[in-house]
Amino acid sequence: MIKRYSYDPVIGTGATVREIEISVGEPLPFTLTDDGVFVYEMDGDTRVYGLGETVRGMNKRGWIYESFCSDEPFHTEDKRSLYGAHNFVLIDGEQRFGAFFDTPGRITFDIGYTDSSVMTVTPDDTQSPRLELYIITGDSLRDIVRQFRSLIGRSYTPPKWAFGYGQSRWGYVNQEDIIRCADSYRDAGIPIDMIYLDIDYMDSFKDFTVSPERFPDLKGLAAEMKRRGIRLIPIIDAAVKREEGFDVYDEGHERGYFCKDKDGGDFVVGVWPGMSVLPDFFDPEVRRWFGMKYKTLTDMGIEGFWNDMNEPALFYSEKGLDNAFKEIKDYEGKQLGALNFFGARDVFNRLANSDSDYGSFYHSSPEGRFIHRDVHNLYGSLMTRSAYEALKELRPDTEPMLFSRASYIGAHRYGGIWTGDNHSWWSHILLSMQQMPALNMCGFLFSGSDIGGFNGCCTRDLLIRWLSFAVFTPLMRNHAAAGTRSQEAFAFGDTEVFRHIITLRYRLLPYIYSEFVKAVESDDMYFRPLRFDYEDDEIAATVEDQLMVGDALMIAPVYTQNAVARHVYLPEKMIQYRMSGGEISTEELNKGWHYISVPLGDVVFFAKREITFADPVMNTSELAFN
Ligand code: NOJ
Repeated sequence: MIKRYSYDPVIGTGATVREIEISVGEPLPFTLTDDGVFVYEMDGDTRVYGLGETVRGMNKRGWIYESFCSDEPFHTEDKRSLYGAHNFVLIDGEQRFGAFFDTPGRITFDIGYTDSSVMTVTPDDTQSPRLELYIITGDSLRDIVRQFRSLIGRSYTPPKWAFGYGQSRWGYVNQEDIIRCADSYRDAGIPIDMIYLDIDYMDSFKDFTVSPERFPDLKGLAAEMKRRGIRLIPIIDAAVKREEGFDVYDEGHERGYFCKDKDGGDFVVGVWPGMSVLPDFFDPEVRRWFGMKYKTLTDMGIEGFWNDMNEPALFYSEKGLDNAFKEIKDYEGKQLGALNFFGARDVFNRLANSDSDYGSFYHSSPEGRFIHRDVHNLYGSLMTRSAYEALKELRPDTEPMLFSRASYIGAHRYGGIWTGDNHSWWSHILLSMQQMPALNMCGFLFSGSDIGGFNGCCTRDLLIRWLSFAVFTPLMRNHAAAGTRSQEAFAFGDTEVFRHIITLRYRLLPYIYSEFVKAVESDDMYFRPLRFDYEDDEIAATVEDQLMVGDALMIAPVYTQNAVARHVYLPEKMIQYRMSGGEISTEELNKGWHYISVPLGDVVFFAKREITFADPVMNTSELAFN
């Protein structure tokens, strides 16, 4: 049962696909205070799931989260926001219900942070909330999620090959780097389906251009790779370089397609290409215009993309930078004691993603003109929509491979997401495991994290353990930041162990793909906390580092350094599958706690029934799966 409460929403967010009658006179499970705060008293055992892409555990209780799509490269526990805004919570206590706070602006979920027994939900500094609130009740946690998902519409399903393994790196600077990467995978006998192109392929980081010096024949390269069964997946950034003579800029500027400042001029920001402008994705005409630009690359044989920097990330604004240069002059020639020194340093540090910049530009949509800050969380989603709709128009018979960094609920119908700039830290394997089911609740089924970690340097054992988990994530991509140590599956000398693990992914693809599609078609979750399958089991309710995967599997990845075994809770009798040295063996295990030996390189998982494996292949084109 879904009830809708309407509080003068700012703008239609496009998150929902079904019209629900407004409930009149029906009691809310929250108390709404005079200052526009939703309050819920939690009993001692209440667990709270949801919120999609956030830090901390599966049970969100005990921290404060802010939905405000943020370019946040440090996913530490003290953060409140990451790149997505996924305002769905699932309360699992004496009362059980889901609540979706559908609003495009900032909204804060204090889930037992200020007062451990109280949850408050506070929309952006306002005296009265401006949102649609949906309250969903049902027979089980899974049923509540299914109903919510039927409200927000069917999740995106990528093409089959997108379930293969992909290698990415910011720092493959030319065609030779790409060929070397493909050759190394081939020589090591490690399967691969995709190589990603980061901003290095572009000419001066300009969207929809290709560097003539470093990638003189992208079309030829794409064809050669495709012949080998590998697709190239280029990045597209949200901002467009402000450069006269650059056709995308000239056209967009002449037609008034970029976000405006208060005086009606283009709002100018600094990102990778330097001074840039932001396409106004709130305008359907701009969406189509920008989306159709992907044709430059699809004409070269490209079939998939990742959309980046679309929170939107702002290193600075032109005005902010001018002011900073003026301000810093005051410090010149002065003795810089501690406070002064930090003050001087912050003049530039506080420029990025500043609240004042987010409050200084405007969107035009069919529903009117909006100051960006009030509708911030929709920007990235609308970029995904722009790309998806155009790609469907350009290649109507195929689903595009597409995923994004920023998102709002609703974008799950147009593409997947990756979880952004994590670190090569052990704790980020666990974080990724905990993010996956929360993302699934909010419709994002095609997702994954940067395997091996984006920032920082990866080690051989970390990559092995990370891959052993990521074998099960629908999006399986190894990606790293410029300047970090190489972390390809061939980068650590011995390749055999990596070959076995990535081959296992392909051997499991018939299961992974069919369970993914089943989850999409039944509005279900592909990844679930144990709690969702074993509601009567008190132990299952507390397990935070194991996951149900599809109908039959349970995983319990190793995510600590030097561990060679771990405790695993089996909520029922299961078959233990162990891949060791490329061989798969099984053993029956009873319900209860087990201490399972998992030497580095072994992948261990559990199943409620026997599953079938495909034969080893080098990429998805060699595999028949449905
Ligand atoms: C930020 C993205 O999160 C990261 O994945 C990418 O490598 C860099 N931008 C450079 O494009």
